[in-house]
Amino acid sequence: MKEIRIGILGFGTVGAGVVEGIQKNGTLMAGRTGIHLVVEKIADLDITTDRGIAVPDGVLTTDAMSVINDPSIDVIVELVGGTTIARTFTLEALKLGKPVITANKALLADHGEEIYKTAREHHTGIYYEAAVGGGIPVLRSQRDGLVGNRIESIYGILNGTCNYILTRMEREGLPFDSILADAQALGYAETPPDLDIDGIDTAHKAVVLASMAYGAPVPMEACPAKGIRGLAESEIENADALGYRIKLLAIIKDNAGEVELSVEPTLVPKTHMISSVSDSFNAVFVKGDIVDDTMYYGRGAGRLPTGSAVIGDIMEAAADKLHNVGTPVSVTMMLQRDTLDYYPEGNIEKRCYLRFPQANLKAAAEVLEKHGIGIASVEESFSVILTQRAKESAFVAAMAELGDAIRLRLEDFE
Ligand code: HSE
Repeated sequence: MKEIRIGILGFGTVGAGVVEGIQKNGTLMAGRTGIHLVVEKIADLDITTDRGIAVPDGVLTTDAMSVINDPSIDVIVELVGGTTIARTFTLEALKLGKPVITANKALLADHGEEIYKTAREHHTGIYYEAAVGGGIPVLRSQRDGLVGNRIESIYGILNGTCNYILTRMEREGLPFDSILADAQALGYAETPPDLDIDGIDTAHKAVVLASMAYGAPVPMEACPAKGIRGLAESEIENADALGYRIKLLAIIKDNAGEVELSVEPTLVPKTHMISSVSDSFNAVFVKGDIVDDTMYYGRGAGRLPTGSAVIGDIMEAAADKLHNVGTPVSVTMMLQRDTLDYYPEGNIEKRCYLRFPQANLKAAAEVLEKHGIGIASVEESFSVILTQRAKESAFVAAMAELGDAIRLRLEDFE
């Protein structure tokens, strides 16, 4: 039996879930792997709040740097959140050659290139399964099972908070704000929750997914993001009547070497499996050129699901350390190329749902036609037009003439 000593930075929702998971299943994991995980230190500025988890005396500290620098600690788990002090802690640990596990998608989206390169330079690893899809091992699936594929497209419901809100708006007709408060109480939402509801958290995760799929750090400006703030119940009702549900969808597609990324509230047909992903569940559809369609599904947020992904990474980092792996595949796959060719937002082609609270539909149709946007159907009773595919730049130009029209993406997965 080998012992691996862990230092955890951040004892919030996920930190407590990781400790709970190790306390519950540490013996099971040791039996399976021959590796005994010891939570040696937990650092947090607040070490007095009860997290519902008992830890031995002397484990809690307010001094994160002393944990990073402690020579008896083999592996650092960064669960501080944010992109400032978390970046410093991560880089300091990597520079000491210590593997770092993180659930911090914002950190990877904003500073991934620097972090992967630092890990490579110091022959150690950064492990980040928990950053995308909560408890779903979706990055591992891409990295391992799908490594022989060129990735053609990825469709993802990647934010548990938004999916929970959309599900309850649809099922219960409740107002947005009261559901958001529940999502916060359940430990799904970021603090503050703006990153969730404005689509930025989903974009962070899309950027990490695309980096792995296409082998280059992807900048956040490659992924235009819209969220669900202000989405009216009438859109959810109209979508329902037309045979669709509204999901906050990340779409990543390889168009002959140029990659398209976007995040926006999207009408998806009720007949497609992704429409039945509800509550805090996430789902990722990955299409590879050899495997064809695959799908990954599970809890996308919350203390124990995210804790499960972190524990999986701790175990992998521990095994890599014991086997002297050096820089693992999770780093090399992000750095195969220096840059990614990505579509400017205006070039992205899509269908749209357009609702015109004021305008006359005939006049609206003329404006759309002028901008080369074909009409698939007109739903006069809702003042809605469903369009054919057209470029985002054409929609932006038409909408500038159409005043207060409401526009959502429509994806039929064809
Ligand atoms: N706030 C995130 C979500 C947490 O709701 O999905 C998991 O990344």
